Amino acid sequence: MKYSKIVGLGHHVPDTVITNEYLTNLIDTTDEWIVERTGIKERRYIDHTKDTVANMAARATRMALKRAGLTEKDIEFIVFATITPDYFFPGSGVLLQRELGLEGIGALDIRNACSGFIYGLSVADQYIKTGAYKTVLVIGAEIQSTALDLTTRGRNTAVIFGDGAGAAILQSSDKPGVLSTHLHADGRYAEELYVKDPGSSRPHKERQPEQILDTSSFKVFMNGNQVFKHAVVRFMEVINEALNANNLKKEDISLLVPHQANLRISQFIQEKLGLTDDQVYNNIMRFGNTTAASIPIAMSEAFGEGKIKENDLVCLAAFGSGFTWASSLIRW
Ligand code: UT7
Repeated sequence: MKYSKIVGLGHHVPDTVITNEYLTNLIDTTDEWIVERTGIKERRYIDHTKDTVANMAARATRMALKRAGLTEKDIEFIVFATITPDYFFPGSGVLLQRELGLEGIGALDIRNACSGFIYGLSVADQYIKTGAYKTVLVIGAEIQSTALDLTTRGRNTAVIFGDGAGAAILQSSDKPGVLSTHLHADGRYAEELYVKDPGSSRPHKERQPEQILDTSSFKVFMNGNQVFKHAVVRFMEVINEALNANNLKKEDISLLVPHQANLRISQFIQEKLGLTDDQVYNNIMRFGNTTAASIPIAMSEAFGEGKIKENDLVCLAAFGSGFTWASSLIRW
């Protein structure tokens, strides 16, 4: 029996720190409101002259390779989770492949928003278990800042998102690794958190950009209340599903790395699971919600801080646009 194991983690966030105070210059909001409702104090925004989704991913990859003692040439396949690709098409997977000088290897893009990294992990895990590949790179990377409505109209959405990239390198191993992944979706809620354009849902003439009079459809729309209510239910469900599938108990979890959606959501799950502050990794205070990038950035930081050790049981869980939700249990 082959397993997949995470052998390297890396991350990259842009240099520009955007504080809550800075946002009060653009939006009718306050530091108190943002901290109380979301836990966020600051986030990072890209510098358009130097940062792209693909090159942030490349920097995260190089950090992961270094930690794993591997080089670019060891990577056999790329799984790239993003909902903010550099181009509408092709996806950012091929751009990262070019950036890493890996012409010829396969590159797959995943568009499952906040759950994208766990969906990507699941794909990589299956390829490794079946013997198709020995070393797979999984990325979560996003540039949300340039799609936000940074006016008072967009304030419940704009204040939570940020930019960044995270990378995980998976390799085949005789010992577990990724114990399981659990993936779910409910498309009835697709429009509760979405960016409509440039989509193909419009008739021909209306799809041409010059015909679109109300361009708010290019910005992120989120029904925050609705998303919050579903998130707290689905997070718990999918974590319990993972524990049950592996005959494990919540007491067995060494570290929970939840998608960084809102600190209040993470605290709710922590309380339900009876975990201590040390058993839940949160960095939303510093980076906001970076969609598919949030879990690999958080895992990479947790690893760097010595919070993930050999034999630990790490639980990942996510919820977001789609709606999609997912979990994974990993024996380190
Ligand atoms: O990662 C993908 C998944 N995303 C999530 O899981 C996000 C889930 N949702 C949330 O985190 C929360 O819904 C938000 C943080 C986005 C919003 O918090 P909320 O407590 O649900 O606020 P609300 O939208 O119900 O708004 C409450 C009040 C409203 O004012 P009134 O109508 O009560 O007078 C809003 O206009 O707060 C107002 N408000 C703000 N005030 C100051 C909304 N955004 C802001 C703001 N600053 N930024």
